Amino acid sequence: MTTETSAASRIFVTRNWYVGAISAELRDRPLGRMICGRRIVFFRNPDGRVQALAATCPHRGADLARGKVVGDSVECPFHGLRFNGGGACTRIPSQDSEAPIPRALRVPSYAVIEKAGFVWVWPEPGDTPTCEPEVPEFLGYGTPWRMTMLPRGQLSAGSYLNAMENALDDAHLAFVHQATIPGASERVAPFKITTDADRRGYGGIAEMGSMVAESPAVADVATGSRVMDWLARLAMDNLKPTHKAYHYRLSGLVCITTTDASGPRDHTFAFFTPSDAEHTYLFGGVTRNHSLNSVADWLFKQYMPALTAEDSKILGELVPEAQGPGGLATPFVIRADRQSFPFRRLYAEAMAAEGKTAPWALEGSAASEN
Ligand code: FES
Ligand SMILES: [Fe+2]
Repeated sequence: MTTETSAASRIFVTRNWYVGAISAELRDRPLGRMICGRRIVFFRNPDGRVQALAATCPHRGADLARGKVVGDSVECPFHGLRFNGGGACTRIPSQDSEAPIPRALRVPSYAVIEKAGFVWVWPEPGDTPTCEPEVPEFLGYGTPWRMTMLPRGQLSAGSYLNAMENALDDAHLAFVHQATIPGASERVAPFKITTDADRRGYGGIAEMGSMVAESPAVADVATGSRVMDWLARLAMDNLKPTHKAYHYRLSGLVCITTTDASGPRDHTFAFFTPSDAEHTYLFGGVTRNHSLNSVADWLFKQYMPALTAEDSKILGELVPEAQGPGGLATPFVIRADRQSFPFRRLYAEAMAAEGKTAPWALEGSAASEN
């Protein structure tokens, strides 16, 4: 029943939990998201539990996400058919209420779990998940940690591969983010990679040494506006980071932890979720135990969309041949790519485990690695 999108789902790992929404995005109306090439509608039952269904109405193809929630069902905006959380049709208003509802009149449903303020979806219809969503510990930190998040999932230009590799790529900071990360070093810190035991992620530590900006916490919220930068100098603590730890997971998690002599000071994180071949959702935020004031909260809220807009712009303006699901067919790999390149290898392994072929050439790319 998802024929219109099943081809797109072949280019993603789909037996995997991805963030589909932030809990606060789901109130009393349905929410539509295209995830791994599948059109999904999320809604809450009267008891608050989140449901996820294929959003294409099987009657004439209206988008159920444009309908409304009625009781435990979502109602199609076209002829009023209703579907409950299991995907069964519960009402056909145009016929007598005694008339039978065909058993086959249903939409596929998706496994969904709400945890730690996020709604996680397993984008394989009718499938039984083989694991739990990976919820990072830092999402549950209490006082004095403060969390600031983008208020909703942001649909951005860039295939999942391009978006993830961009998030792992420090060599673009000095060029793409001149306004939001002024003073970012052109040079990328030495980075040693360790692959996670389950081969579904990897991480590393970049020693900051001479590359530390004078006050990275201030640089972290710079916007290019003099007023904002002045505010940032007042509201943000001066940190002297010793290193940054990076961790990337096939769940779509990108996390950068800043540590100083006293220990971890902030986790800047994003969950990336594949949308279609050329677009990716980003659910991002930062949790910190420094700059504990509401002006800093406000600055982070201004800063995060400005930063992500710069990434979306550069990825959306790549030449068309590089925008597809596999990026450029044979990218020339430079030293700085050592931080991001393992991602495509692990992701290709996970795709192979699902019987799928990754749409990027590992060998051609690896041959140019120096
Ligand atoms: S298209 Fe949905 S009820 Fe007709
Ligand atoms: Fe970026």
